[in-house]
Amino acid sequence: MVELKTPGEIEAMAAAGAVVARALAATRAAAAVGVRLGQLDEVARGVLREAGASSPFLGYQPSFAGSPYPGVVCLSVNDAVLHGTPTRYRLRDGDLLSVDCGATLDGWTGDAAISFCIGTTGPADARLLERTEAALTAGIAAAQPGARIGDISAAIGAVARDAGYGLSTDFGGHGVGHTMHESPHIPNDGRPGRGMRLEAGLTVAIEPWFLAGGQDAYRVDDDGWTLRSTDGSRGAHFEHTIAVTDDGPRVLTVC
Ligand code: MF3
Ligand code: CO
Repeated sequence: MVELKTPGEIEAMAAAGAVVARALAATRAAAAVGVRLGQLDEVARGVLREAGASSPFLGYQPSFAGSPYPGVVCLSVNDAVLHGTPTRYRLRDGDLLSVDCGATLDGWTGDAAISFCIGTTGPADARLLERTEAALTAGIAAAQPGARIGDISAAIGAVARDAGYGLSTDFGGHGVGHTMHESPHIPNDGRPGRGMRLEAGLTVAIEPWFLAGGQDAYRVDDDGWTLRSTDGSRGAHFEHTIAVTDDGPRVLTVC
């Protein structure tokens, strides 16, 4: 069932979204050569704690995972693209880091992700980052009242295909509200004009993740969480929680 939110509820979700945006900004600011992933999780925890927010990631155990999620952020480095865990790994110059964060404030949740390089950004990474973020922008632009889920999916898929990147329809976007994962599912590829019609009050996370090597396949580490490319190529992931409004899409995960 899809729950539409009132304008007041969307404002409350924007407050949760602002906490997510602040946690991502703080994590990005702290991410430097020699810093351990576990330290970045501590930084994000501090922002959530200060804001009086809880984490929808910590302890989360969906059916695909064999253990509860151990952090408040996902930290995926290089060939890892989604659901990397806060290990003792120390960041190196040129690493590509994806950070995914959620926060629940006053019963409402936000979910967003950014990717960037530590220190030096190589040209291939610059293109991957730019194109993946462009797919998020295109997906958001397609989230107009009266459009359909397939319009968002198709907009994302077209960017990946034009760029020659690998794309999976697993782990795409999703409804967000009282909980992190609600209906509808938003695959990262699809056909325009298909699927559920978008109405004002719909709140969803849109989250393209692309693999530079061009292969669609991925594998999951023994930890049951970390998703990696199968060819060792790098991945990038960008996400925002948005509301469909009568005036068009509104991004909620901003400060
Ligand atoms: N943005 C990710 C998603 O929607 C968040 C995963 S949270 C985790 O799947 F707890 F499962 F890691
Ligand atoms: Co999400």
